[in-house]
Amino acid sequence: MSQDERPALEDLLGAKHRWYHVVDLAPGVTTPGWIDLRPHVGGPQLPASLQGQRALDVGTFDGFWAFELERRGAEVIGIDVDQIPPPDTPQSRWAEVQAELDGAVPGTGFELLRRWFGSSAERRSVNVYELTPEAVGGPVDLVFIGAMLLHLRDPVRALEQARAVLRPGGRLVLFEPIDRKLSKRSEPLARLMIGSTIWTWWYANRACLTDWVKAAGFTDVEDLGTRDVVDSTGNKQRHLTLHARA
Ligand SMILES: C[S@@+](CC[C@H](N)C(=O)[O-])C[C@H]1O[C@@H](n2cnc3c(N)ncnc32)[C@H](O)[C@@H]1O
Repeated sequence: MSQDERPALEDLLGAKHRWYHVVDLAPGVTTPGWIDLRPHVGGPQLPASLQGQRALDVGTFDGFWAFELERRGAEVIGIDVDQIPPPDTPQSRWAEVQAELDGAVPGTGFELLRRWFGSSAERRSVNVYELTPEAVGGPVDLVFIGAMLLHLRDPVRALEQARAVLRPGGRLVLFEPIDRKLSKRSEPLARLMIGSTIWTWWYANRACLTDWVKAAGFTDVEDLGTRDVVDSTGNKQRHLTLHARA
């Protein structure tokens, strides 16, 4: 099969891949993902039209948000890391993470969906900490970050790099899980998670996520409210939407 040939539905669904995103393929047919963001597509309040704009999806995984940005007219690039274990994994947990990801080929889902949709979105393996305009083919008008900062040791540094790829005045859209209990408090707080899970470093509260964005140099930070997203294990994660300008 050529690099761009559309896969047969049964080949796409039968591919050896642990799907993260539930994605519509055809009426009544979806990928078997771990998280169904379809009811929350309005959550991040993305601009209705991104015609003529370049958009970057950071930590794209199977590309749910990358394909949504493209649907709205943007030229899209998605980045993720192909490294196993991912770069922010503490050394003490490498073996555990490697065992969990045994046989996984990062980017499989994105590539299958790109060909299925006949999409022009591109995926590159770029660590967010090494993000530069050159790494993504030039500056972008919009950076989207969804459910990613919680997995990083240094969320502010990642946000600084995101800001560095935006054109002056460009827009950051964040759709990130926050800690529900800590968000009842107004001071900025984050719960350290890495002692109890291998994937997550922080659950920030609402004020903390906002302060991370401000600390990274963004201006006009707007809190556009929360949504409760339920994953396939029934776990409810409160997501906060923030918009800001570079
Ligand atoms: C929980 S998934 C979120 C997927 C998607 N952004 C969403 O909102 O549904 C986190 C993604 O961030 C990626 N990621 C983790 N560390 C990264 C890093 N240092 N640079 C780029 N991507 C990273 C992971 O590989 C994974 O695909």
